[in-house]
Amino acid sequence: MDLISSLNKRYACKKFNPNKVLSQLQVDEIIEAGRLTATSYGAQLMKFVLVEDKELREKLVNCSFGQRQVADASHLLVICRERDIDLSHFEDYISRVAEVRGTEIEKLDGFKNMMANSILTKSEEDQEIWMNKQCYIALGNLLTACAIMGIDSCPMEGFLPEEYDEILDLEKQNLASVLVLPIGFRADDCPNASNKKVRRKTEDFLVKI
Ligand SMILES: Cc1cc2nc3c(=O)[nH]c(=O)nc-3n(C[C@H](O)[C@H](O)[C@H](O)COP(=O)(O)O)c2cc1C
Repeated sequence: MDLISSLNKRYACKKFNPNKVLSQLQVDEIIEAGRLTATSYGAQLMKFVLVEDKELREKLVNCSFGQRQVADASHLLVICRERDIDLSHFEDYISRVAEVRGTEIEKLDGFKNMMANSILTKSEEDQEIWMNKQCYIALGNLLTACAIMGIDSCPMEGFLPEEYDEILDLEKQNLASVLVLPIGFRADDCPNASNKKVRRKTEDFLVKI
């Protein structure tokens, strides 16, 4: 029941206390929870960008429809997908599998070809959609991790990805922003903090067949 109690307490924080800062240990743990996210095939075609530059974070407010959470929260994570993918991404992944599991790389050829074939034959748009979906799984994981750790967060897709990509120079790293997650601690006057949680009733949510 601790898990349910933590999930009930978490909410989308609209106003962070800019003076309350997460410890390095807390930040590391949240990032680790995100890194452990399950992805399709385990291919993990995503990266997190931790925006530490205060000036850049102020600039991001304008392309987040004025949402100040991106500047005021203790830390700001931008969940990104790879921009263009090719065979080398799958080769890198397979090398990592071989390294971690001590498997002969040739024995992984079938898996690599099956995976690369199923993804690289998709249209560019479908590849993007597929990678974006993986980012949303990471977001869910991060929200739960924050909830359990008593850390406030705000999941955000209310921003202009192309402008973020430009301000953070993400194209240079072959990345495209998908989601934004400010994390930290709520301000005493956060307007969302006292809102009751609204969800469908269980009987309207769960279909038993
Ligand atoms: C993918 C996603 C994108 C969201 N984008 C924003 C956003 O840009 N700004 C914001 O204030 N809240 C955003 N939210 C928060 C939702 O409005 C909020 O989670 C929802 O109303 C449920 O409320 P709760 O999270 O407080 O329980 C987003 C939530 C999700 C899951």
